[in-house]
Amino acid sequence: MNRQLTCVTCGSTYPLEDQRLRCHCGGLLDVQLDMDSAPSPAAFAATFESRLPSRLPPDLSGVWRYRELVLDVPPDDLVTFPEGRTNLYDLDPTPLGLSALWAKHEGENPTGSFKDRGMTVAVSWARHQGARALICASTGNTSASLAAYGARAHIPVFVLIPEGKIAQGKLAQALAYGAHTLQIDGSFDDAMYAVEQMATQRNLTLVNSLNPFRLEGQKTIILDSFFQLGQMLPDWIIVPGGNLGNTSAFGKALIEMKALDLIDRVPRLAVIQAEGASPFARAAQGDFQHFEPMQPETVATAIRIGNPVNYEKAVRAIRFTDGIVTSVTDAEILKAKHDLDRQAIGCEPASAATLAGLRRLTREQVVRPGESVLLIITGNLLKDPDTTIALATGQTAALGIPGAAALDACANEPRHVPSDPETIAGIIEEELQ
Ligand code: F0G
Repeated sequence: MNRQLTCVTCGSTYPLEDQRLRCHCGGLLDVQLDMDSAPSPAAFAATFESRLPSRLPPDLSGVWRYRELVLDVPPDDLVTFPEGRTNLYDLDPTPLGLSALWAKHEGENPTGSFKDRGMTVAVSWARHQGARALICASTGNTSASLAAYGARAHIPVFVLIPEGKIAQGKLAQALAYGAHTLQIDGSFDDAMYAVEQMATQRNLTLVNSLNPFRLEGQKTIILDSFFQLGQMLPDWIIVPGGNLGNTSAFGKALIEMKALDLIDRVPRLAVIQAEGASPFARAAQGDFQHFEPMQPETVATAIRIGNPVNYEKAVRAIRFTDGIVTSVTDAEILKAKHDLDRQAIGCEPASAATLAGLRRLTREQVVRPGESVLLIITGNLLKDPDTTIALATGQTAALGIPGAAALDACANEPRHVPSDPETIAGIIEEELQ
């Protein structure tokens, strides 16, 4: 299928190979598909389904399996682990009065987050274009993912992260995979500003979600869900919002699926932010007439972002899906994390914002009884062991979280025991009472 770059603000177009990050007007760029060259929905569905039993690397990928709706890249340039094809779990819908509740676990990707779906596309395209180095700003997961895909592609990687504000698992990955790791004295938003300036002036390939090829890969979270659910989508799709890449990608996926007649009814998107990092939720309250960046602070460090770069595309996604944006407190996020963890859908705090948001939206009767909901779990539990252990050992007050006392019930402290079997057996019997 034919594609070009199109500005979401002024509509200017550029060839796909143009290496610009933004339009001349400053607007964000989309990879725009030529819908007229698309096959019928039945032909699309049959092609995608026919690849399921294949053992070929592009078909094994839950991203490249949908390549007609992602990007044409020569097979030799593909950088894939493979990624995607994450599980979709059934959760009990009854406590919230829903008809169905699913969780799609993007933490099951090769580096433990949804970023891999976008990264395989951005890095494959960068390799195809002959990139000399790859760069990103990150709250952690993008840096871990880029470090891995860059290592696989043998292209040098530079990651800028806010010092002391990324979870240990993510830092460990970036270092282990050999990325040049630059810790800055500032927030993610400062790092994002710096990488955009440098990329443009120094011929470094930027792979944050400002890169429109990243978002083409992230669209496949929706495509994968659609096929896993038997070619249907639920009433609501709930996703955490930080830099708003997923929000934008999901909106674009739904716009395209509707235009291609793969779906006739568009699910509503609900974007959940942490209260201390909620500029998008605040803008939504005024119907997006005004946007104000903020100094972000939240225990969910993945979404500790005050000035999301994808704002305009995310507004488009909310408008197209009749969506909603709300925010939740850190205590609500940690309680939801505990409840997901206990069902072994372990996740990092940002991902649990989805369940916390759903609880708020059902309380407020925005999500109504009998509706069906899909939660997008964005990152793996092992990414942020420190917060998980703080929660289990009743140390959340030390993290400075208001309302932390309510989290005492989440404790599951390890016990110190002597080494003799008799005493240990006695303790086990006692615990089983
Ligand atoms: N959940 C997790 C686990 C994340 O790592 C991120 C973003 C988000 C949600 C928010 O997604 O930006 O598409 O709205 N992490 C980026 C990073 C910013 O650098 O790893 P978004």
